[in-house]
Amino acid sequence: MFGSARKNALLKLFSLSVLVALTVSLFAMPAAAATTLGAAAAQSGRYYGAALANSKLSNSTYSTIAAREFNMITAENEMKMDATEPNQNQFNFTAGDSIYNWATSRGLKVRGHTLTWHAQQPTWMQGMTGTALRNAMINHINGVVAHYKGKLAYWDVVNEAYADDGSQNRRQSNLQGTGNDWIEVAFRTARAGDPSVKLCYNDYNIENWSAGKTQGVYNMVKDFKARGVPIDCVGFQAHFGSGGMPSSFQTTLANFAALGVDVAITELDIASAPATAYANVTKACLAVARCVGITVWGVRDNDSWRTGENPLLFDSNGNKKAAYTAVLDALNAAGPVPTNTTAPVRTNTPVRTNTPVPGVTPSRTPTPGSTGSTCSPVSSTITAPFSYDGAGTLCWQSSNLGSYINSWNTNSVTVNGVNVSNIWVSSGSYPAKINGFWYVSYNSSVAWGHFEAK
Ligand code: XIL
Repeated sequence: MFGSARKNALLKLFSLSVLVALTVSLFAMPAAAATTLGAAAAQSGRYYGAALANSKLSNSTYSTIAAREFNMITAENEMKMDATEPNQNQFNFTAGDSIYNWATSRGLKVRGHTLTWHAQQPTWMQGMTGTALRNAMINHINGVVAHYKGKLAYWDVVNEAYADDGSQNRRQSNLQGTGNDWIEVAFRTARAGDPSVKLCYNDYNIENWSAGKTQGVYNMVKDFKARGVPIDCVGFQAHFGSGGMPSSFQTTLANFAALGVDVAITELDIASAPATAYANVTKACLAVARCVGITVWGVRDNDSWRTGENPLLFDSNGNKKAAYTAVLDALNAAGPVPTNTTAPVRTNTPVRTNTPVPGVTPSRTPTPGSTGSTCSPVSSTITAPFSYDGAGTLCWQSSNLGSYINSWNTNSVTVNGVNVSNIWVSSGSYPAKINGFWYVSYNSSVAWGHFEAK
């Protein structure tokens, strides 16, 4: 039979177990997986970005996906040389600013692309050479960098300056024709114009570590770092065929990062977008601490510059493809990284302050070198009842030895061969310890063992 008290007790027990179970499962539960690419990448301090075209921002399917999924935006064409300086020394930032404002008003960051390039130069620049072109390049960098000063996270300062022929050589171009130093001049000019933006070199087909082009760029970055040419990052475009990335890509990212630059995947697209290939690129970046983020070169397949290759994460209707899920899962699998990865700094090293504080009885209880029974006078120079126990401790018995202490000639006392001349009698009121020796005031009351001569 259940009495109501018993029922109550059972009910309480039941509620308590439910509460405990809930609490336990709450603590055991992993952090909820992020549901967008940007949020998933942010868990490890990275970004997931996309290139956007200004003309498409009015398409709501496009802009809804872009605003929801990405947290770093690159202007696909709007910040290039032909767009920003259509006539020499006449700058136009209308389209670039439109993308910039669209992104930043939604809390998204912006990568600038690109200050110099052999392609997409304005018509007036294409035929230029020599000093005129060099000066035009510098003027272009100054004008564009000044406009976006302090606003961008990164600038691609130089795009695609290396040759495709398997060598480590520079690409032949009108800019290269102005002198081999054109790249470092571009970087120095950009740095002078905006000290806060990160300055990147950006290229394609530099993902395979053993490729000559990769080695050429690597040696340039190494040289720049050695000579103090300002370079902060290297962008790997990562326009891949359906086979995906070369197997050495992670090695390449790590090797560049080891030079002291950030690395990023800046224009990712993979023909037919195999889920595994996308996952592998994601994992390669996640495995390298200085891989700061990934940008896909477009939103939907029909937005891609690679017409008909369907290389992106959303189909032409804006649906998530298998590659999308693979990327999201890979980002979530990496999860949050601890922000503090260094060993804890011990800040509470106790500082020993052993300056005697008058008025405070030292907390250390000296180990008596002797007890009352063994503490007996050992020297005629020590007036009874002082004694030396033979182990470095002078001791006495009386509780009122003021007169003895006061009259004691310490110079004649030797303890264990050490002259204890710095035993003295203080005129102060309290027992204290100086240089390892107790001193006592006139008429102090002292206990066993409190007179050390160690
Ligand atoms: C492409 C754009 O996607 C196209 O719209 C444009 O017609 C040509 O340029 N490497 C780069 C990008 O650095 O700027 C290129 O973008 C793709 C290859």
